[in-house]
Amino acid sequence: MPRNETIVAIDGPSGAGKGTVARALAQELGYRHIDSGAMYRGVAWQASRDGVDLTDELAIAALAEAAVFAFEGDRIAVNGHDVTEAIRTPETDVAAASVARLPAVREALVSRQRALGEDGRLVMEGRDIGTVVFPAAAAKIYLDASPDERARRRAVDPAHASGRTRALADVASALEARDTSDRTRHASPLTLAPDAELIDTTGVPIGDVVTRVLSIVRSRLGGAPSAPAG
Ligand code: DC
Repeated sequence: MPRNETIVAIDGPSGAGKGTVARALAQELGYRHIDSGAMYRGVAWQASRDGVDLTDELAIAALAEAAVFAFEGDRIAVNGHDVTEAIRTPETDVAAASVARLPAVREALVSRQRALGEDGRLVMEGRDIGTVVFPAAAAKIYLDASPDERARRRAVDPAHASGRTRALADVASALEARDTSDRTRHASPLTLAPDAELIDTTGVPIGDVVTRVLSIVRSRLGGAPSAPAG
């Protein structure tokens, strides 16, 4: 695969700051931003809605192949339904981690993700973007933070609140369970690509993280065209 001059891969565990950083980068560079995790969540949402067993790999892979994803700013629709809030519930957290373990589902979504990058000028965030989806991405960033800090961030993240208050300890243990699932699964586990820049964001204000990542990405993109945000 040729090196993709205008693709930025942002990977890392939940609560490491990927969403904020990826959105800010895309805005600064004038690139498109895609949250690949929302696609796993969208497939899990559709499976639950259709009453499909979450271990039925072929049925869920068929849903992943057929799903119509529409990304509009920070909102996402699956098969015509705006699921932006519905896919951030604790139940969907668990269901998405479960479908993300299924190789046939990953294969279907990876090919959809590559298609989204065909025209370049893309910031994609996830777990396997720099390792599997775009191994030739021009810039790869791996964000991490201590488990405590990631749980604290997730507990106050309005996108994940779904109208409920959750105890920090509950958020922390759910996050740890999902992390373990993402890191230990057989198919494309979360790992650091050898050519990714690892950034520990523990205790670092998110604005400083964005500034640092932007400077690394700009130097990796070299002369690739970027446009100011419109
Ligand atoms: O980033 P997130 O928490 O919204 O992702 C939801 C689930 O999907 C999570 O268990 C990790 C998984 N995922 C993945 O396996 N590969 C990706 N590229 C993105 C997310």
